[in-house]
Amino acid sequence: MTSTSMDVLVSLCKRRGFVFQSSEIYGGTGSCWDYGPLGVELRNNIKRVWWRDFVQQRADMVGLDASILMHPTVWKASGHVDHFTDPMVDCRECKRRFRADQVDEMAWIHYCEATKGNKFTIAGGEACKHCGARRTLCPECGRGELTAPRLFNLMFKTFMGPVEEDASVTYLRPETAQGIFVNFDNVLQSTRRKLPFGIAQIGKAFRNEITPGNFIFRSREFEQMEIEFFVNPHETVEGRPADEHWHDRWIEDCRAWFTRYGLQPDNVRLHEHERAELAHYAKRTVDLLYRFPMGWSELMGIANRTDFDLKQHAKLSGKSLTWFDEERKEHVVPFVIEPSAGVDRALLAFLLDAYREEEVRGDKRVVLRLHPELAPVKIAVLPLLKKRAEIVASGHALRTRLARRWVTIYDDTAAIGRLYRRQDEVGTPYCVTVDVKTVGDQEKGEVGDQRVTIRERDSMEQIRVPIDELDSLFDRLLGGSAWAEVAGAHPRAES
Ligand code: GAP
Repeated sequence: MTSTSMDVLVSLCKRRGFVFQSSEIYGGTGSCWDYGPLGVELRNNIKRVWWRDFVQQRADMVGLDASILMHPTVWKASGHVDHFTDPMVDCRECKRRFRADQVDEMAWIHYCEATKGNKFTIAGGEACKHCGARRTLCPECGRGELTAPRLFNLMFKTFMGPVEEDASVTYLRPETAQGIFVNFDNVLQSTRRKLPFGIAQIGKAFRNEITPGNFIFRSREFEQMEIEFFVNPHETVEGRPADEHWHDRWIEDCRAWFTRYGLQPDNVRLHEHERAELAHYAKRTVDLLYRFPMGWSELMGIANRTDFDLKQHAKLSGKSLTWFDEERKEHVVPFVIEPSAGVDRALLAFLLDAYREEEVRGDKRVVLRLHPELAPVKIAVLPLLKKRAEIVASGHALRTRLARRWVTIYDDTAAIGRLYRRQDEVGTPYCVTVDVKTVGDQEKGEVGDQRVTIRERDSMEQIRVPIDELDSLFDRLLGGSAWAEVAGAHPRAES
């Protein structure tokens, strides 16, 4: 498993302002999370890079931003009203609710008759070593009987308009995908696309998960980055049905994207769904699994949804959802390949993979080796002496200048060594230090050498660079050039 433990990461996220528990001052909600000042930057960066790479840079993709509340028939057509359910059991005593398929695996509370009713916590699936009993009652309170399993729909129900009646029931979307399917014809007509092409969307989704947990891995409100890629099922590519060809292409493109932005290849693997595991709409599904601290778990899924959704929406809406193939002179219901990733799970995986504890000159340094494109702050401007007004003024001026192009912060609240460590811990790739030599002694009429020290996070190497050259230097460094290549042209500074 990933060596970083979830507890260590949760603590870092709270301490440094990446993720907070929602409504914490009221005791928290347990299943919803708020992204703090650094978290929101990281999250936006993940979404921006994904959108740029998969939508803006591809000629065969367009974007969409559909509303969260949709016509309730959408969820009937998609199968969510009938199939998006988990079997649940309830405790008659404490009223807690459990997933029927997970209750046997849970640790359980037992009041043992053989030890005068003493209370024990017994591991899931094991028997009491004193009386040999196995769990039959509620695992949490140990007293109540459990009801027979009942199907529980995971969609959040709400009401549209002022009257709370059955006719106005609607749902918070449990996936963004359906917003794309119902707009298929609008996009086709307005963009004159030909198959194959894809529509992408990033947005919130809501599921009333029975067992949310593992920090932001499974929550009730989360965000998805989804693509519905429409292909002509009557075509072949390289001798294979087009849908199968594109499915494999998307699996590889998604895996490459995650490793390009920092996940170690060894921490990502594919999981082919068995027939019994497949969703009701899928011909084939492959998940990208990440080696999370709790074990290999789903990072994203890439499904072949066939023509299920478009046909269902055509049937229930009475509108034709086809593409006209001019060459064959026929209407085609496209097949759909769906790469679907969770923003929150991506963020969690990127943080876990980037986290390192290193020893530097006998001290522990925590560093987030985040890809520079994902790092929440790109540059930190740090004054060596905050008592010197010229240094502070020069630092503020530099921050203002650099912040026009890159997220740049100024910090003078500690000694320089401490300031570096703080930036390492949140993954800031470059620090700019202004010192006495930079500004000189104004009382003596000096103007300084107008050079600053640039420190790189991972190697901790430092170079001395004229202030005038900072924009072009960061253009290169934050535009993808390697540190070694750029730093070689400048004199080293002592660390
Ligand atoms: N449209 C297909 C779909 O929604 P899914 O496998 O249910 O498929 C896709 O969800 C992705 O959304 C998952 O791989 C995961 O990254 C994310 N996701 C799903 N449920 C989630 C939850 N409760 N909390 C956080 N992320 C979730």
